[in-house]
Amino acid sequence: MEAKIVLLPGDGVGPEVVSEGRKVLEAVAAAYGHQFAFEERPIGGVAIDETGDPLPEPTLEACRSAAAVLLGAVGGPKWDDPQAKVRPEQGLLGLRQGLQLYANLRPVRLIPELVDASPLRPELVKDVDILIVRELTGGLYFGEPRLLETIDGKRRAVDTLEYHEHEIRRVVRLAFQLAEPRRAHLTSVDKANVLETSRLWRQVAQEEAHSFPNVRLEHQLVDSAAMRLIADPRHFDVLVTENMFGDILSDEASVLTGSLGMLPSASIGEGTLGVYEPIHGSAPDIAGQGIANPIGTILSVAMLLRHSLALEPEAVAVEQAVQQAIADGARTADLTTNDSQTTEEMGEAVVDRLKSRITTEGPH
Ligand code: IPM
Ligand code: MG
Repeated sequence: MEAKIVLLPGDGVGPEVVSEGRKVLEAVAAAYGHQFAFEERPIGGVAIDETGDPLPEPTLEACRSAAAVLLGAVGGPKWDDPQAKVRPEQGLLGLRQGLQLYANLRPVRLIPELVDASPLRPELVKDVDILIVRELTGGLYFGEPRLLETIDGKRRAVDTLEYHEHEIRRVVRLAFQLAEPRRAHLTSVDKANVLETSRLWRQVAQEEAHSFPNVRLEHQLVDSAAMRLIADPRHFDVLVTENMFGDILSDEASVLTGSLGMLPSASIGEGTLGVYEPIHGSAPDIAGQGIANPIGTILSVAMLLRHSLALEPEAVAVEQAVQQAIADGARTADLTTNDSQTTEEMGEAVVDRLKSRITTEGPH
């Protein structure tokens, strides 16, 4: 197949991990006879430095006409001034909203060999397989009004939490669909004992449940869900929640897998276009050292192949190559206190496994 893939390396460790993701895509293209055309564009802090805008129009246009987008990370201390008019994060939020990517899928799966990398007891985290479905274009992140003002010398700030029925319905429905072929257990997370938006969320989830009689729907308050994610993570199958709760719970859940650096994500909407990115941030403390873990990005590449390009065997091949590289002992610094591999060495380890798997088993 032919596909245009836009690369948005962004800030911090973004360029380092995206470059490994690209190598994996190139290896897949060579092995399976696809033509991927790559187009690299600025977003976030680098885009502010180049153009003054964290999401320059040509970047958004390139993404609109692409089959898929692979993103690294945005943000860093250089652009962190609280007084600043523009922030790198606005580039990412603008991209999600501009492309109407209302659902963010964050699979949390433990690779068995990494069971000791998690700070939690092995018997607690082994077999963890959770899919977090986070609403991505609504809630506190986008609600109006939002402001910070000074009245009579006193400062006041406002953010707005607003959800429309259709925004809840489409993401909850998607979560039901994703739960069906899994363990058919959907946990809808809210704060319905306090928030009106959560009460609406709960009602809509309940209504949608009628269309999915095979899926067991459970409601859970976000505070107790946060506790249960650590105390009994294997309880969860698919978890669906609003934007901010999903942001927080997905970072928490990443601890189960040993490292934030391992987790991929897919941001999707109505069509096949999606933005794929590791869930970790720009990690300014280690940027430029070549030690970031590229696995979150490489597993995002697998999600890209699956969701945007409908290349399931290729996606599975990438996931198995990652498993194999880890099983063979490849570790970046975040995963071990012993000798570790660099970002490039880890990328190479995966590409090698991918190639040898394809030569021994054939590409199809
Ligand atoms: C994420 C990040 C972003 C978010 C930031 C960088 C705006 O934390 O993708 O989880 O809050 O959505
Ligand atoms: Mg986050």
